Amino acid sequence: MTLPDSHTTVNQALAWAVETLRDISDTPRLDAEILLAHALGWSRARVLAGVRETISDDTLRMFRTLVQRRAAREPVAYLVGRKEFYGLEFIVDQRVLVPRPETETLVDAALEWARQRRSPHNTLLIADIGTGSGCIAIALAVHLPNALIYATDLSADALTVARQNIELHGVADRVTLLWGDLLAPLPQPVDLLVSNPPYTVLEDIDAGVRLHEPHLALNGGSDGLVVYRRLLAAAPRALRPGGALMLEIGATQAEAVMSLARQAFPTAAVRVVHDLAGRDRVVTVETADG
Ligand SMILES: C[S@@+](CC[C@H](N)C(=O)[O-])C[C@H]1O[C@@H](n2cnc3c(N)ncnc32)[C@H](O)[C@@H]1O
Repeated sequence: MTLPDSHTTVNQALAWAVETLRDISDTPRLDAEILLAHALGWSRARVLAGVRETISDDTLRMFRTLVQRRAAREPVAYLVGRKEFYGLEFIVDQRVLVPRPETETLVDAALEWARQRRSPHNTLLIADIGTGSGCIAIALAVHLPNALIYATDLSADALTVARQNIELHGVADRVTLLWGDLLAPLPQPVDLLVSNPPYTVLEDIDAGVRLHEPHLALNGGSDGLVVYRRLLAAAPRALRPGGALMLEIGATQAEAVMSLARQAFPTAAVRVVHDLAGRDRVVTVETADG
């Protein structure tokens, strides 16, 4: 299908984009609507209400470019520079992993634990290891006004994006960014460690993800478990008595990660939490009061 160069309507532009994206996206219509809304500076609702309106030539050129980049499997979130996570908007670009809806299960589990815990400390100390865009740390900070949160990453580029998101959400006074390897930059033990570490085997993942998202955020080594091994081996020294650790996992990794967790924390309660699709998604480790 070709797209007229001028006097193109919203409807024609959407139809062309859907056709162009059909083979590379599971959601071609949604992608097209989001990209056209972005090019026009409109909401998606306004696009849907304005299907007969004509698009200016400049907007059409911009939309063409966005659709062509999407056709090369670039994530929609990078093209529009934004992604919603836990009801909050985050700035994203090629320097950080696009926050995934599955990771909201980790935030839910962490919030539930934090709200039920009886602690001798007034302030809850949390560390988010491998913070990327900062989405987990910031969602926790927004929902736990008494928490202080360390957010670490080995990627200085990712921390630059996380800084922008911390400022966007007004939590700079309670979220401290630290550069370094896993738990090494933490200045003190914490009550709650959370992490969505790299856990995929690069060769096995979707081509679009592998082409465009940072490999440091994805690469879990030859069996996907390399970062869990290092993180779990170091975690006991990084937790206060009665503390907890929560790790996002791939859907087939529960048994292996639970076994590593039991080795590191022989007396702790180790459980698996499912995501909304019913898949294994988070391993939780709750230690006894000291
Ligand atoms: C799967 S991404 C998760 C990003 C973000 N927390 C999220 O859930 O969207 C993993 C993150 O861990 C970081 N990372 C990888 N290896 C690391 C290491 N050894 N120490 C600290 N961070 C690391 C990556 O740069 C990336 O930002």
